[in-house]
Amino acid sequence: MSEILLEVNNLKKYFPITGGFLGKVVGNVKAVDGVSFSINKGEAFGLVGESGSGKTTIGQTILRMNEKTSGTVKFGGIDIHNLSKKDLKALRPKVQYIFQDPYSSLDPKMRIGDAIGEPLLEHGFATKQNVREKVEEIILLCGMSSNYIDRFPHEFSGGQRQRIVIARAMALNPEFVVADEPVSSLDVSIQAQIINLFSDLRQKKGLSYLFISHDLSVVEHLCNRIAIMYLGVIVELATRDELFSNPQHPYTKALLSAIPVPDPTLKRNRIILKGNIPSPSNPPSGCRFHTRCPYVMDKCSKTVPELKEIAEGHQSACHLA
Ligand SMILES: Nc1ncnc2c1ncn2[C@@H]1O[C@H](COP(=O)(O)OP(=O)(O)OP(=O)(O)O)[C@@H](O)[C@H]1O
Ligand SMILES: [Mg+2]
Repeated sequence: MSEILLEVNNLKKYFPITGGFLGKVVGNVKAVDGVSFSINKGEAFGLVGESGSGKTTIGQTILRMNEKTSGTVKFGGIDIHNLSKKDLKALRPKVQYIFQDPYSSLDPKMRIGDAIGEPLLEHGFATKQNVREKVEEIILLCGMSSNYIDRFPHEFSGGQRQRIVIARAMALNPEFVVADEPVSSLDVSIQAQIINLFSDLRQKKGLSYLFISHDLSVVEHLCNRIAIMYLGVIVELATRDELFSNPQHPYTKALLSAIPVPDPTLKRNRIILKGNIPSPSNPPSGCRFHTRCPYVMDKCSKTVPELKEIAEGHQSACHLA
């Protein structure tokens, strides 16, 4: 049996909406509305969904960069949201977050060596004497040359910057990394290189990932299990092979149909969804996807479909299943 590293149970994160000149709470953005999944040791778990579906909010809430509204998040059996400030600080190096944008996540005035070395010194992973050596080691591990150390972020391309950001997260020898759209701002050719770097690091260091993307094709080669999100909830969760070969939820099918096929003789029937993703402050009744679903039935607007197991390790939340 694989060992569970992270366990998320019925997690909710609502952001209050205030209105009027008294600033009263008039509603909530239900960014994450009851999400459960677990990630095993050494696993790369993909979280995929459209913009605004709640991916970043999940990533940040599980690492307690946000306070949760309700639910539990356990890391190595310990409830992260119940930790004292001191214990949370001790946990920080083990869990790292790679932010969505490689441009704003590096301080333009800081040399690369300092950007990577600073957290090492702060957490006592290096001394002033050996920090340079440790930074060089990690820079090489992340596929860069050690002469990058004395240079500044503006001297690098997007792909190289992303390697630097990854190196900074890896320097602390984490067990678990949340990578939030780490390749979406990069050219397709560079994306593959960065995905390979994530894959190498996972093998070399026995790391586990929560890898966030709006693009299924990005997680296909890296992740062994994938969850599909829609408007704050998981609608389907399966192994990569099962999800790609036997998708069950109409939303997953639509996302898969949007992936371009390299062979022009193979035609894929693209499923075009009508309308935009509704507002998470006022999600549709019943199944949240019913307003855009090509297979919508009467029941769909009335009853919330449960995320249930339809085959071993394959869950889907649809009345058709
Ligand atoms: N601090 C906040 N205050 C209020 N609403 C927020 C806050 N952060 C996120 N939201 C809202 O929560 C919802 C989910 O946002 P989130 O950033 O998690 O989505 P996402 O899936 O990461 O989207 P993207 O692909 O664009 O990064 C959105 O409607 C967003 O506007
Ligand atoms: Mg996001």
